[in-house]
Amino acid sequence: MELRTARLRLREITEEDAPAIHSHERLIEVMRYTPNAPRTLEETLARIRLGLADAAESPRHVFDFAMELEGQLIGRVGCRVLEVPSQGTIWWICHPDHQGRGYSTEGITAVIDFAFSTLALHRVYAEIDPRNAASLRVAEKLGLRREAHLRECEFMQGEWVDSVLCATLAREWIAARAKPL
Ligand SMILES: CC(C)(COP(=O)(O)OP(=O)(O)OC[C@H]1O[C@@H](n2cnc3c(N)ncnc32)[C@H](O)[C@@H]1OP(=O)(O)O)[C@@H](O)C(=O)NCCC(=O)NCCS
Repeated sequence: MELRTARLRLREITEEDAPAIHSHERLIEVMRYTPNAPRTLEETLARIRLGLADAAESPRHVFDFAMELEGQLIGRVGCRVLEVPSQGTIWWICHPDHQGRGYSTEGITAVIDFAFSTLALHRVYAEIDPRNAASLRVAEKLGLRREAHLRECEFMQGEWVDSVLCATLAREWIAARAKPL
């Protein structure tokens, strides 16, 4: 499976991607507001293998794409279809060398398009640590609505953390994208 944007190729992740993915997963500043501490190369490879098993499920629930720029893996964007009917969670992560150039917003836009068209989902949402200003900005640029601020709802990396739920419905997304610039 593959998605294309103006600048990016979104493709399936393979075991060979472990060193490239590890180059950002080993960094504290990248993993700071995610559920996971920085990973060793072995942990990254193990996580990729779990992802490959997820991808092989039928029906498939997890669509985790490598974000590739001119042949180089620069991050990941994805969507998990939930057991709640027609809903999905989305995520984005980008290597610091490539941040601030709109790649995550561009990549996750294609994933949301895919979620609403191909997967026919009704609603997607992201869960964002409110201290993660860059991620909140991505959600804002996407036009996601801030629906809730949950207090200390998750225990991640040794602390209770808040989570901001940012969501959009299929009809809102499609209407916003149809508006002339
Ligand atoms: C969040 C993340 C994926 C954004 O990736 P990116 O490719 O830089 O995203 P974009 O370039 O599309 O947009 C980032 C926006 O945040 C802004 N931004 C960056 N740091 C910021 C900060 N500290 N405060 C406010 N805005 C900030 C950028 O200026 C940009 O907005 P702009 O286009 O209006 O200038 C990246 O920072 C990252 O990988 N972080 C670590 C992993 C992570 O937290 N993932 C999300 C978990 S919910």
